Amino acid sequence: MSFDEMDVDTIWMDGEFVDWEDAQIHVLTHALHYGTGVFEGVRAYETENGTAIFRWEEHLDRLYNSCKPYDLDIGYDREELTEATERLVREQDLGSCYIRPIVFYGYDSLGVSPGDNPTRTAIAAWPWGTYLGEDALENGVEVMVSSWRKHASSQIPTNAKTTGLYVNSMLAGEEARRNGFAEAIVLNKEGDVAEGPGENLFMVRDGEIFTPGLAESILDGITRDTVITLAEERGYTVHDQATISRGELNTADELFFTGSAAEVTPIRRVDNVEIGDGSRGPVTEELQTAFFDLVERRTDDHDEWFSYVGE
Ligand SMILES: Cc1ncc(COP(=O)(O)O)c(C=O)c1O
Repeated sequence: MSFDEMDVDTIWMDGEFVDWEDAQIHVLTHALHYGTGVFEGVRAYETENGTAIFRWEEHLDRLYNSCKPYDLDIGYDREELTEATERLVREQDLGSCYIRPIVFYGYDSLGVSPGDNPTRTAIAAWPWGTYLGEDALENGVEVMVSSWRKHASSQIPTNAKTTGLYVNSMLAGEEARRNGFAEAIVLNKEGDVAEGPGENLFMVRDGEIFTPGLAESILDGITRDTVITLAEERGYTVHDQATISRGELNTADELFFTGSAAEVTPIRRVDNVEIGDGSRGPVTEELQTAFFDLVERRTDDHDEWFSYVGE
């Protein structure tokens, strides 16, 4: 859905709440030219006790950490960003929604060195449904192993959520969609499995769970961590620093993606190979159910992961 069709009118920008159409930047903004920004993608869920932001503190941790290699100085503390975000959700009456904080180099000069360019910070929130399509959660998606490789962490820090990194995600995702697939799987420089363009990847084999480790050029996903926790609480062995070869994808019993946008999405086919019996597998379904029971608060577990925005 386009922003123009949405019932949202306010964005927080550099300490002020501004009208949606006034949240503008100059065309010579440093980050527009060089990808020098970092961001977060966060979901809030409508629950019986009002709208709750899921794992906000961990998203803030990652936002501040993402700034470090780029010397971006947010200039607002955690309480200020939290208050701004809660107000955006509360005052626009947003139930389940997506929240996008972004921090970037602004406008002053256009050398690659950011020099005296100011750090700009903005937060927006809007309704956003299922990321990979309506029936993806139930029936799974068909994915293609991309011909594009993920950058190594020695080229760009892959554990920082940097705007510029997403040209790689866009290339991989669009290649997949042009070929009739819903999404891509991206291999790392060594040719082993890294992740999706905007998702981490999990594999189930012989009742155990595997997900590529942090050294495989992945983003350290917060949904990844959530699903690892939920799986271990249900007695599964989780290999969370795995190296998964491309070939192992073909013989997996189950595969699924995780992400704040993609939530827990089964994968039913990789290239020409059907995964398992070509539908959502039982372990995926169990963890997906546990995930939605958690975030929609049909259980009391992990209340520490929820920030209620209040009435
Ligand atoms: C490249 C990439 N990997 C993984 C993820 C999943 O991370 P998270 O679960 O924190 O949203 C995302 C989404 O933010 C992503 O963009």
